Amino acid sequence: MGHRCSFWGPRGRNRGVAKPWCVALILAALYNRRSTSAVTSSLALALLGLILLTICRLPPALLAALSLIGSIAMGLLANRRRVQKRESGMEDFSGKVAFITGGGSGAGLGQAKRFSAAGCRVVIADIRQDHLDQAVDALRKLKAQVHAIALDVTDRAAFARAADETERVFGPVELLFNTAGVSIFGPLERATYDDYDWMMGVNFGGVVNGMQTFVPRMIAYGRGGHIVNTASLGAFHAASVAGIYSASKFAVHGITLAMRDALAKHNIGVSCLCPANIRTNIAESIRTRPAHFSHSGFQVDDEEMAALREIYSHGMEPEELAGHVLEAVKKNQFYIIPYPEARKGLELGFKAVLDALPPEDSDREGQAKRHQAMLKYRQARATMDERKYALKAKG
Ligand SMILES: NC(=O)c1ccc[n+]([C@@H]2O[C@H](COP(=O)([O-])OP(=O)(O)OC[C@H]3O[C@@H](n4cnc5c(N)ncnc54)[C@H](O)[C@@H]3O)[C@@H](O)[C@H]2O)c1
Repeated sequence: MGHRCSFWGPRGRNRGVAKPWCVALILAALYNRRSTSAVTSSLALALLGLILLTICRLPPALLAALSLIGSIAMGLLANRRRVQKRESGMEDFSGKVAFITGGGSGAGLGQAKRFSAAGCRVVIADIRQDHLDQAVDALRKLKAQVHAIALDVTDRAAFARAADETERVFGPVELLFNTAGVSIFGPLERATYDDYDWMMGVNFGGVVNGMQTFVPRMIAYGRGGHIVNTASLGAFHAASVAGIYSASKFAVHGITLAMRDALAKHNIGVSCLCPANIRTNIAESIRTRPAHFSHSGFQVDDEEMAALREIYSHGMEPEELAGHVLEAVKKNQFYIIPYPEARKGLELGFKAVLDALPPEDSDREGQAKRHQAMLKYRQARATMDERKYALKAKG
């Protein structure tokens, strides 16, 4: 009654079943290859199957089917665990391609150092060739895998070319850092259109161009990822001298919040970096101001540059800041504001907003009417989006 077995095939009734069974298990192990635990489980199941086949009288066909189903189930479970982890943040950076605007200096260079140390291959893109050259030297000394691209973030065609070049050199981007930015200060009522156009163009337009270039590619690649847009603490406060800068950062903050909502279903996390003071070269921003936006209402002279350099010299080290960014990406945390001194001002700012609201229990009838209207609109919106854009509404 018993089956006499050799390793390559049982003799008797189910002669020849073990061979396809082994092949099936190898296929299952290959299917599960992205998870060490699932591969181990597949192989353990195979071994258990062989032992049972040898000592029990179960038909090899049944054992083969059970082992195969079991090992694929292990793979599916491991895959689900992996997706759940990605939804709650990114854990493994090794080999991932990171594209960093403003990567030649300051916060962007700090991100390049930190994320390459975590295993990323980094592309640094910057308008200043001298910054790129120095940054590449520094990064190569740290044994980073780095590629530099000269890029003005306001140039959309050049951005697309930079994305193509990145894919040719390293492959598809999974981490995008829209970090490039400029600042110039002065009494707001003296500002010119050129002041607005330059600063809004780089600080907000650059972030928009980065996302317009890479978001469709990241979605098409289908591996999820993460985007970090650099705003500022100035995205929450505004005063005359930093008026345009703050407006550009309010805009970055707003579009970043909205993009987080848009990209969650694609497993792409989004964070908004809001630094207070970083030890960088931002006092030199004026050097990259283009000739076609040269008419300024502000006078940036040596005295002002020296005052700015002095204050930024006491800022947080860019690499330390990038360490906070890395932790935030791991946790898929939206706000990155590692400055304890920001609390008081933010509390006061949000209190002023909340103080402007009427009491919660006032105008009950109006509240209910508006609430119902909003619910109805949301449902209609979800139906329209599903029909027009094949977008599934979130639960
Ligand atoms: N330094 C601070 O205290 C501080 C505070 C809050 C927010 N930030 C923000 O941090 C970001 C990085 O600035 P940083 O402080 O590291 O300054 P930085 O000047 O050291 O670095 C910015 C880099 O961006 C590059 N750049 C400027 N215009 C560009 C353009 N059009 N295209 C491509 N690259 C361009 C510059 O050449 C420079 O290498 C900016 O968005 C800035 O607004 C800085």
